[in-house]
Formats: sequence, C-alpha cells, structure tokens
Amino acid sequence: SSGTKSSSAPLFSALPKKIQDAGVIKIGTDSAYAPMEFVENGKIVGVDPDIADALAKQLGVKVQFTAGTFDGLITSIYTGREDAIMSSITDNKQRQEGLDDKGQKIGKGIDFVDYFSSGLSLLVKKGNPEGIKTLDDLCGKTVAVQRGTTYEDEFKKQAEKCGDKKLTIQAFDTDAEAQTRVKAGGAVADLNDYPVAAYTVKTSGGGNDFEIAGQQTGVGLFGIGVSKDNTQLRDALKQALDAAIKDGSYGKALEKWNVQ
Ligand code: ARG
Repeated sequence: SSGTKSSSAPLFSALPKKIQDAGVIKIGTDSAYAPMEFVENGKIVGVDPDIADALAKQLGVKVQFTAGTFDGLITSIYTGREDAIMSSITDNKQRQEGLDDKGQKIGKGIDFVDYFSSGLSLLVKKGNPEGIKTLDDLCGKTVAVQRGTTYEDEFKKQAEKCGDKKLTIQAFDTDAEAQTRVKAGGAVADLNDYPVAAYTVKTSGGGNDFEIAGQQTGVGLFGIGVSKDNTQLRDALKQALDAAIKDGSYGKALEKWNVQ
C-alpha cells in the first residue's frame, strides 16, 4: 500500500463517498504469480500493486492488497469483503455475467476496468523433453494448472478434444504449485500468462528449470474487477488509469518489471 489520503488529488471527488471516508481501496489478489503479484519480504509486490499505486496517487487514497485464493476472488466482491480484485484476471464474458465454464449462471457477475494485455504460454521443463508445441501435443499426458483460471477451462476444452487419448488435469490453488509439479516431472506442462511464464523461465533454477513451449498465443485483457453495484468506483478507476497512462506512471510500472 502507498499513496496518502488527499482530497486535493485530481480524482478524489470521483470516488464513492465510502472509499473517500475510508481513505483506502481494499484489493484482493492471489499473490503467488510473479512478477504480476507476489510476496517479497512479507509484502505483496509486483506489476499489479505498482499499477494500483499509480492509480491510487491519482485518486488521493491508498490501496491495500490482501492475499486470497484465486478461485475465491470474485466471491470476495459479491460479499463486499474487497472493493476490487486485481490479480491478472482475464476479462471475459463468463466472469462479467457470472457464468461457470458450462455457461450456467452462478453469480451476478462483475465489472472490469481493463489495464493490461497478455498472451498465454505453455510452461514445460527445460529442454522440452516431451517435444510439446501445441495443446494437441498434450493428449495422453498429465498437465498442471491453477484452479479457477481461464487456463483450467482451456485444458478442460482440450481434454474433450483429446477424447480417448485422455488428458489428465491436476488443478492447484496456485500457479506456483502447478509450476512445482512440472518441475518435479509429475506433469508435463502448465498453462499460464506469458509474463509469468517468461519470468519463471528466467528466474527459476538460474534459468535451468523451464522453457516456454512453442509460441505465446492468443491475447487477452486483464481487468480490475469491481462489483456491478459500484459503477462509481469502476468509473473512478478507469479515469485514474487514463490519467496514469497519460502522465507516464503506468508505463513506469511496466518498465520496472520489464513487461509490456
Ligand atoms: N489470467 C488468468 C485468469 O484470469 C490467470 C490469472 C491468475 N492470476 C493469479 N494471480 N494467479 O484466469
């Protein structure tokens, strides 16, 4: 958390009264997703916290990140435990409308303020011993993935495609656990967001543990999630983002972590 409560900030008046009074925006995240959000010296740091700080400066309040399980983040918006969620969350129709992966309505859905675009990539063991290039190469094998992500859904779709050549999916609360599984050889690949895969390839085992299979594919938008009942916060965050892009503080946050 950083920034100081200051009603003289350019966008303070755009915030809902409740947040003006509290002086803080409570943000839920899964903090095992370096470099996007992760714990360092007991603090949640990364691309998302730095972008949030840039927005907070425009708004004249603080942001306070709290760690939670990714699969429960949307619920924390429904219950009001968090004002917002920011966790490299892919903005999609399913989440906007509160649907499960089969299109069944399970909640009211959330609104998003999009702030980043990313491809996805398959993280495999260094040397790519299974010779994996695409999702189709995974049929008959075991993969690991973070529960509740778009990537778990992606693997489920692929499993249907594989049919009898069974694709076995192991789902974990964090992507870090899925990575560990691949490293240990219990699964052949983890599907996650490109900046995370790229960072892991570079940093894990001094660059000797992983590589990215094939090319990064697809492009999705990450959004800050807010309640559909809080359009004022959504609009204030959007204005703050536009201002942070304009004054360069958004770009600085990306530069600092070497993502774009
Ligand atoms: N972008 C993917 C999704 O929205 C994965 C995000 C995982 N984020 C995290 N902090 N672990 O489903």
